[in-house]
Amino acid sequence: MLDWFRCLQEGRGSEYLKSMGRAINVDDFRRRAQRRLPTLVFDYLEGGAEDEYCLRRNVEVLRNLRFLPKRLRDVTRPSCSIELFGRTCSAPFLIGPTGLNGVFWPNGNIALARAAARASIPFVLSTPAQNSIEEVAEKAGGELWFQLYDINRKLSENLVEGALRSGYKALVLTVDVTVNGWRERDLRNKFAVPFHYSWKAIWDGLRHPSWLWQFLRQGMPVMANLVTKEESNAETAAALARRQMNSALSWKDLRDLRALWPHTLIVKGVLDSYDAIGCAKQG
Ligand SMILES: Cc1cc2nc3c(=O)[nH]c(=O)nc-3n(C[C@H](O)[C@H](O)[C@H](O)COP(=O)(O)O)c2cc1C
Repeated sequence: MLDWFRCLQEGRGSEYLKSMGRAINVDDFRRRAQRRLPTLVFDYLEGGAEDEYCLRRNVEVLRNLRFLPKRLRDVTRPSCSIELFGRTCSAPFLIGPTGLNGVFWPNGNIALARAAARASIPFVLSTPAQNSIEEVAEKAGGELWFQLYDINRKLSENLVEGALRSGYKALVLTVDVTVNGWRERDLRNKFAVPFHYSWKAIWDGLRHPSWLWQFLRQGMPVMANLVTKEESNAETAAALARRQMNSALSWKDLRDLRALWPHTLIVKGVLDSYDAIGCAKQG
């Protein structure tokens, strides 16, 4: 997708088409993912909470946005670059944190971070990622941000120190997952980490042999940011998988984090202007 965007910007659309075969828009990529992934993995990737009402509404709102083009401008060298938190990005978007990239594709976080680096946009590594903070920094480079789920104070401090040591440029604290969403597709599919090997799940895997082959070759994905830290344990990983965060997270914790992290600190999941002003006040 990012290569496509870059080629289009540089007027090399036909070159891109040759390399990508028949995937020419987002829906084509979606269909490819659906064909490749077992249903329970695809449903996790695509599904939302409750009746998916909010998910549908978000899509509709985005689809209803319209551009108003300005005419008679020299566009021989178009640029979509923007300033984001004091940095120049080549496009008005970034690769946001998604937890199980390594389940969709082996070393998916490294592949995504490399693609982001090539496209000069930020990549946000998620706390439950299957590649560690250090490994992504070492193998991908580029503009890296780290997304933090606060499960407990000690773990958060370790992760923040790791991100700082590895040269991450921004910390993204997610604050909208105090309780896990009621994700109906996952409940129906019995999707959980660690995976349950039910007959249904095995059959699902067998029907998607290229995914299964890669899955078997890479072994059971782990939450790499937890297994490499001393205080890591199965309980914390399970809490993370169930999105069981520190439900007491408060403004005081944000202040403490601000003191710990010297670079850009982004609070993810704020919807209310009162909260946004509160965050800005913390610096
Ligand atoms: C499969 C999947 C996994 C996600 N994992 C995380 C995560 O680990 N941390 C996080 O802060 N947000 C996570 N999100 C939320 C995204 O970062 C993002 O906020 C959300 O998908 C809305 O953006 P979109 O409209 O571009 O999809 C995840 C979203 C999806 C679809």
